[in-house]
Parts: sequence; C-alpha cells; structure tokens
Amino acid sequence: MSLEDKINNQSARVVVVGIGYVGLPLVVELGRAGFRVTGFDHDAAKVKSLNAGKSYIEDIKSEDLEPHVKAGRMDASTDEKVIGEADCVVLCVPTPLKKSKDPDMSYIEASAQAVARNQHADMLVVLESTTYPGTTRDYLVTALQQGGKYSVGKDLFVAFSPERVDPGNAKFGTRNTPKVLGGVTPACMSAAKALYVQLVDTVVSVSSPDAAEMVKLLENTFRAVNIGLVNEFALICERLGLDVWEVIAAASTKPFGYMPFYPGPGLGGHCIPIDPLYLSWKMRGLKMPARFIELADMVNTAMPEHVVSLVASALNDDSKAMKGANVLISGVAYKKNVSDVRESPAIDVIEGLLARGVVVSYLDPWVPSFKEGAHVFESVKPDASFASYDAIVIVTDHASIDYARMVREAAVIVDTRNATRPVAAHAKARIVRL
Ligand SMILES: NC(=O)c1ccc[n+]([C@@H]2O[C@H](COP(=O)([O-])OP(=O)(O)OC[C@H]3O[C@@H](n4cnc5c(N)ncnc54)[C@H](O)[C@@H]3O)[C@@H](O)[C@H]2O)c1
Repeated sequence: MSLEDKINNQSARVVVVGIGYVGLPLVVELGRAGFRVTGFDHDAAKVKSLNAGKSYIEDIKSEDLEPHVKAGRMDASTDEKVIGEADCVVLCVPTPLKKSKDPDMSYIEASAQAVARNQHADMLVVLESTTYPGTTRDYLVTALQQGGKYSVGKDLFVAFSPERVDPGNAKFGTRNTPKVLGGVTPACMSAAKALYVQLVDTVVSVSSPDAAEMVKLLENTFRAVNIGLVNEFALICERLGLDVWEVIAAASTKPFGYMPFYPGPGLGGHCIPIDPLYLSWKMRGLKMPARFIELADMVNTAMPEHVVSLVASALNDDSKAMKGANVLISGVAYKKNVSDVRESPAIDVIEGLLARGVVVSYLDPWVPSFKEGAHVFESVKPDASFASYDAIVIVTDHASIDYARMVREAAVIVDTRNATRPVAAHAKARIVRL
C-alpha cells in the first residue's frame, strides 16, 4: 500500500515531535481523525501526562485524550525510536531566540537529526515550527537526504505547514483555522495534503515550503508592526494630552480600511515578539534590512520601561519615592485569560521596578507562581485588599480580576490595558492610562 493510501485510510501511524502548545492540539486532531498517534518529547512530565490521558494545556480537555489513550490509539514516549515506526512525522519543536536575538535553530536541528537517524522509505515529514524561509530545505531536506539513500518526492516527502494556534481563543482552534501548506515537490504536497485534509476544515496550498514559511512571518510581522505603530501613537497621544483609547475607539467606527490594534506594556508570548526577528536576521545576512520589523521591535521593547516611568511619575505625584514603594502588578501572563508567562512584558516591568528598589508583589489568578532568575514569585490571593499598595500596575487584563473593587480600594492605578474604563465612573483611585 502506498504512503498516500495509508494516510487516506488512516492506517498510517503518525508521530508528533514536541507535544507542547502546538503539538498536543495536533495529537488530539490526529486522534479524532482516527490515526494511531504517538507524541515524542524529551520532557518526561508531558509524556507521562499524555500517557495518563491528562491534559497539561488549558485549551485541551483531558476528555479529548483519555478515550484514545485507553483505546491504545494515542500515547507518548521519550524514546526517539518511535519515529522509526511512523509513516508521518510532524515537528512542533520550539524556535526561540538566543540572547543575541538571533534564531536558535538547535531544536529544529536536533529533531531533524532524530528523524534522520530513524528514517525509512516512504515517510512524510512536516515541519510546523515558525521559522525563516528556507529552513525546511536547509535543515529538514538536508538532514533527511544525507547519505544519499532517500530522494525527496520519490521515497521521502517533506512539507512545511505553519501552526496558527491562538491560545485562549474559544472560537478558533486547530480544526476550524485554515491551514497553509507547502510541499517541496508536487508529490510531497499531495502526501501532506492527504494528511491535513483529515485534520482541518480548510487547507490552503502554496507553491513551496518557503512560501508557507513566509506566510506565517507576514501574519506575525503584521501584528508586531501594527502594535508597534499603535504603541507609538500612545506615546504621541500622551505628549499631546490625548486619550489614545478614545482615539482608537472612534477610529474603529470606520466600517472599511481600518482595523484596531491596541497599545500595551510590550509584546509577549512565544510568537509575536520573536518570529519577525527570524526574518530580519535572515535579511541581514542578505544585506537587506527589514526596517519595519526592526523599528517595531525598538518601539515595542521600549514599552516596559515606559510603564516603569509611568509608575515613577504616579508615585512622584503622591510625593513618594520608588525605593521602598509597594507596587502590585496585576496580571503577569503574556495575554489575558492564559497562564503562559513566556516573554511576558510583566517580567521586564517587574525587573525595571526591582532595579529601582520597589517592593513588588503580583496578582494573577492564572499564574499561582513563577520563577524569574533566582527569584520565585507567588501571587497574592484574588480577594486580598488593593488598599495596601502605593500603586497598582495592570499589565495583563484577565477577565476574572475584580476591577470595580480595585478602583474603589486602590490609591493609584497605572492601567496599560484600559481595563478599568468600564468601572472608572465609580473610581476612588487615580487612574493613569497608557
Ligand atoms: N504557542 C503558540 O501559541 C504558537 C502558535 C503558533 C506557532 N507556534 C510555533 O510552534 C512551535 C512550537 O511552539 P510551542 O508553543 O508548542 O512550544 P512548546 O515549548 O510548548 O513545545 C515544544 C515541545 O518540544 C519539545 N522538544 C524540544 N526539542 C525537542 C526534540 N529535539 N525532540 C523532542 N521534543 C522536543 C519540548 O520539550 C516541548 O515540550 C514554535 O516554533 C512556535 O513559534 C507556537
């Protein structure tokens, strides 16, 4: 039976390499579609949890795993040998930045080598990690063709399909978000499409893996640049004595040609602050600066420090010094209603405050504790009084925080998300908005 026939009748076995925020939802969709699926990960805790049918990601329910695990169709392993048993392998490994802000390709490289070590004829290998154009060819195809045993498009099929998962989004998940797909050859495309049409409602074919890699970077650069633009508007409005939130709300009434983006304390998460820099790095190597990306990065990365300066002015207006002031950070996750603190601007704000001698506490119902450097922080209780702080900084506007009580009890609130607007009429607190 050909690989494509096996995929079409779901007898193909699939291994997902990296079962994190992207990999686990994919495992679920593969299970739902009737595939025998195995997650391969170095993280023994995730492997143990999946094997017990227990989810460790908010958007995935354990009920989505457990029946498949019990039926013996879904499992996980820390042993790369499982790759050798797979017909299809999908790589969902991290693509962070190094300290120098250059791409850290070590995870893609290591997982490509793991596939190469366990490779056999008639294998489909798809990369989903966000990365710069050329990666699928440079890393996957190169690793899988080393030794000259296999030939792409004949007995080895390689494609790229960017993940578009939006954690916390109740409307769009893996299945109903259209998926872009680019194969190295038409045969690669055909095999990859046979798999993905069973997992998602809409597959969008593009001509190459490079184009598919670029699609993801356009999407995320679009967000990073527009957020950079509106952050700059916030600073301009502040200087002009205007309320940027009022300006955005009124501009948003235009029914065409405008879509709102909102200012904030800085970019966060695994995607928007990082992915565009993969492209600017690539373009620097080609001696062509990606100016919008670099400018947006400059504006966005300066926002946490601007928030620190707003706290300093707010305390100053109350004749208080930063040193020794008690400041509560409200929300440390990188966006509302999620527990992920990766790249969260809250961390930069906290570091900026600590460096000036501020005594920092935080409240986040989604993040009971987190570690930053040598520091372990623990959230205060959601019902604790807001009255005991010299200032409160709303960094993440989680829905479950009681802003009505906050504006009644607090002395001063630096609100970087406009979260207090609906309850501001009853405020006792002085509210300083971005
Ligand atoms: N999280 C998101 O919202 C999101 C959205 C779209 C795209 N992406 C992209 O998807 C990719 C994965 O992101 P994520 O958020 O799922 O990361 P994650 O850190 O949640 O998960 C990655 C997993 O890969 C495992 N891993 C690392 N190296 C491995 C190796 N060599 N072999 C086996 N397992 C390995 C890690 O242990 C981890 O469990 C990244 O490129 C990211 O940019 C993420």
